[in-house]
Amino acid sequence: MLFPPIPILQYITLLILIQTPSYLSSNDKYTDCASLYDCGKITNIGFPFWGENRPKGCGHPLLHLNCHNSITYITIKDVEYQVLEAIPDNQILRMARVDYFQGLCPSKFLNTSLDPELFVYNSEDKNLTLFYGCLGSNDFPSFSGHVNCFLNGTSDEYFYTQFGAQGPPVFCTTSVVVPVSISLQNINDFTYIQEAIREGFSVRWIAGIEECVECEKSGGVCGYDWSSNQTTCYCRDQSTDSVTKTCTTNSTPNDKASPQSRVPPVQGMYALPTSL
Ligand SMILES: *[C@@H]1O[C@H](CO)[C@@H](O)[C@H](O)[C@H]1NC(C)=O
Ligand SMILES: *[C@@H]1O[C@H](CO)[C@@H](O)[C@H](O)[C@H]1NC(C)=O
Ligand SMILES: *[C@@H]1O[C@H](CO)[C@@H](O)[C@H](O)[C@H]1NC(C)=O
Ligand SMILES: *[C@@H]1O[C@H](CO)[C@@H](O)[C@H](O)[C@H]1NC(C)=O
Repeated sequence: MLFPPIPILQYITLLILIQTPSYLSSNDKYTDCASLYDCGKITNIGFPFWGENRPKGCGHPLLHLNCHNSITYITIKDVEYQVLEAIPDNQILRMARVDYFQGLCPSKFLNTSLDPELFVYNSEDKNLTLFYGCLGSNDFPSFSGHVNCFLNGTSDEYFYTQFGAQGPPVFCTTSVVVPVSISLQNINDFTYIQEAIREGFSVRWIAGIEECVECEKSGGVCGYDWSSNQTTCYCRDQSTDSVTKTCTTNSTPNDKASPQSRVPPVQGMYALPTSL
């Protein structure tokens, strides 16, 4: 037999264990998604993010916030970032790469890369390119220290940095781009570089924000439909509108526009079109 019989009591216990906590499985998407993410210094974060007390449908699949020991993390394209600051009113997120907290030689070399549909870079920040495994020391500027990540198994390899550079030159093995917001006087001082990376960089989150305006005006709460990949609107009366993304029922006391009042009054058959 594929499934050996389970005594009824154990079976019930199992069912209870399998059930997710009610706040995660409730069908009240409006209430679920009206709750805000709070973790340490990062507070009052709603759409387009989800995580912790905000279940899946409350945010974009790629915008998952993870709270660990009162610190918030977000993983974007395999790179983990610590969220240092979040300002919901301006949609600003400041974050720093976790893989550079311990030093300048991460275990994997990955560029910072953000989805342009989700984030906009801060134009005041700069892209710092870190070059690794470079050979032929004569080609390099002088350093106030030495970093060797032993990419080529030789102690002769060098590391250096440059603002706004593209891929690695032929004499280097790889390069990594990391945005930084503090200006570095000496981009060859490794202590400064690490400090700058730890200070993080800012982005503005834009995913679904415009589509969300009407929903919130109509008393709804924004969410994200993971099967159709689009912003949706959860209404107080438990209806969901992914098309107009507004709540048509009058769900807020200060919502003046009833469906009828939006229809212009009939002027009579002699009324002229006003737009001519
Ligand atoms: C940094 O690189 C990203 C991705 O290539 C780009 O979108 C952004 O504009 C760059 N920032 C600056 C200040 O050049
Ligand atoms: C360093 O080693 C890698 C292989 O580990 C090789 O692909 C690369 O060409 C080497 N870089 C230089 C500059 O010799
Ligand atoms: C980072 O991006 C540059 C192009 O901008 C590319 O040449 C380089 O190989 C990338 N580095 C990694 C580690 O993927
Ligand atoms: C939604 O997005 C996911 C991941 O980007 C993709 O795999 C899926 O096909 C998309 N679904 C629709 C209906 O576009």
